[in-house]
Amino acid sequence: MKKALSISLAAIALTVALPASAQFRKPEDAIKYRQSVMTLQGHHVGRIFGMANGRIPFDAKKAAEDAELLNSLSQLPWVAFVEGTDKGNTNAKAEIWKEKAKFDQTASKLQEDVAKLNAVAKTGNLDQIKAAVGSVGQTCKSCHDNFQKQP
Ligand code: HEC
Repeated sequence: MKKALSISLAAIALTVALPASAQFRKPEDAIKYRQSVMTLQGHHVGRIFGMANGRIPFDAKKAAEDAELLNSLSQLPWVAFVEGTDKGNTNAKAEIWKEKAKFDQTASKLQEDVAKLNAVAKTGNLDQIKAAVGSVGQTCKSCHDNFQKQP
């Protein structure tokens, strides 16, 4: 019993102790990770869009919460675009790694746009939220147009 426990603890330690360059054990794990974060981004930005175009009643507190979550989420996917993971169950184009600087620039642009959205969402000013979420949406789209295979 005790031995089994120490073996499983050792296994956990091994998982946690992976170097930064190998955050994912398998290419599929990196693909799943980034797709999951993208899905969550879509969910939270979608709610703000819904409020911006009147499909969902505007609720300043909820919009601010979504923007705050988006602010964290928008920092996460990029590390999971591990070189060579354009194969398998993914819509990532090989261009991501051929034009890495452009890809990284678009990722940074997204984080800047989201930071602005987060700032205006805290003020509760719907007109400013509309403008800021519009910029975010354009940046999502510009990256997808260049780097995501259209399913
Ligand atoms: C810098 C590039 C880039 C930006 C910016 C970006 N995406 Fe993506 N997104 C991708 C790529 C590449 C994929 C394909 C990932 C894959 O299949 O491995 C993707 C996939 C997705 C998916 C599909 C996930 C799935 O389950 O297959 C959704 C939804 C999504 N993105 C939403 C968003 C939203 C919303 C934003 C803006 C808030 C955004 N993305 C910004 C590059 C980007």
